[in-house]
Amino acid sequence: MSGDKFVIEGGQHLKGTVHISGAKNAVLPCMAASLLTAEECYLENVPNIGDVEYMALVLQSLGAHVERPTPSSLLINASTITSYSPPSELVLSQRASFLVLGALLGRAGRGTCSFPGGDVIGQRPIDVHLAGFAALGANVHPEDEKVTAEAESLHGARIFMDYPSVLGTENVMLAAVMAQGRSVIVNAAAEPEIAGLADMLNGMGAHITGAGTHTINIEGVSELHSARHTIIPDRIEAGTFVVAAAITGGDVEIVDAEPSHMDALICKLREVGVSIEVGESSLHVLGTDDLHAVSVQAVPYPGLPTDLQAPVASLLTQAQGVSYIHERVFDNRLLYVSELRKLGAEVVSTGTTAIVAGPRTLSGNNVRALDVRAGAALVLAGLIARGRTEVSDIYHMDRGYENLENKLQSLGAIIERVST
Ligand code: UD1
Repeated sequence: MSGDKFVIEGGQHLKGTVHISGAKNAVLPCMAASLLTAEECYLENVPNIGDVEYMALVLQSLGAHVERPTPSSLLINASTITSYSPPSELVLSQRASFLVLGALLGRAGRGTCSFPGGDVIGQRPIDVHLAGFAALGANVHPEDEKVTAEAESLHGARIFMDYPSVLGTENVMLAAVMAQGRSVIVNAAAEPEIAGLADMLNGMGAHITGAGTHTINIEGVSELHSARHTIIPDRIEAGTFVVAAAITGGDVEIVDAEPSHMDALICKLREVGVSIEVGESSLHVLGTDDLHAVSVQAVPYPGLPTDLQAPVASLLTQAQGVSYIHERVFDNRLLYVSELRKLGAEVVSTGTTAIVAGPRTLSGNNVRALDVRAGAALVLAGLIARGRTEVSDIYHMDRGYENLENKLQSLGAIIERVST
């Protein structure tokens, strides 16, 4: 509910085991990929989050049937496409909706989509997506806040991405997978979610190699068929729980994760002083009150994810010394700094760098979630703040975290959702 808030009583050391859900940023492109075939696609390990609901509405608006046979699976049947233009309000509600443009172009040779919405974290152009469609032979017309892409037939091409955009790479893959001939995406984004999308597409009959590296090769195929695909674990959710354990001086086992996708965070948090033992699909985090300041850069994968930049900042309020946090992906992703200050953190931002002096004792206050990850950072800070912290606008977190408060409660946190 949009008016809900979290009320947190800080001071508990988190203890126990927490299960990690399927990745938000992996399931959304796979849902869009289901549009590429007239046969059914079955997705497993699907998180129950707001963004999946929005994407389901987008697919339904195009004529697809979307069902949840079990709480963690989705069945999508796009046998008939009835519209080539999702309603603007749905596209504006989340950025990943724009992926249906690549999928419609690939399936039907045409689509129209509003410029996408999403979190307010800086400029988020779509030039890379559009240049990729044009390279594949589509006519691309941006007009009145909407863009139409159409082609009699698409042909393979060598596509250089001006910036290794995650959704841009995915959108171009969706369009290229049934183009005639071979495509090579150079300077592609290398995030694990892109390899996840390629796995799903290959399961549908595509020929894609190199996904997860900066060069992706796609041999076009004439048709795709049904697939059953399991969504990879959410490395951002897992990272948020790593920080939750670390910041509370806790002792937490994080299971059903994929630690090999989390090298940068593990390495940086060990430098801060956190003990992290890595298993095949688990992480055991032991917090300490002896944390040291560090320099952090949020950069494309395999570097530290920008989506964990704000949560890490919360942790660094407890580290001895001055930490520097450089945000290198988005130009306006430090808005949470003023909210952290309300809790007593000594943190300032200059341009795209936040400077944190620690350790500081935090005290409860009323703060606002400004986006999904900034909201998580405030919840993490609330877990150690003295007294009561209220985090409002938690609908942002509902978009990206499955059962956040229940998972934290199961580890001993005192956090409640309150409807206002
Ligand atoms: C995705 C993730 C988001 C994550 C981000 C960076 C999804 C649904 N969202 O967002 O959680 O924070 O990757 O890891 O997967 N850019 C351009 N031209 C473009 C597109 C992007 O210049 O056409 C720039 C943006 O301004 C930004 C940077 O690329 O500075 C990164 O954006 P991008 O990788 O596209 O992020 P998203 O795919 O939107």
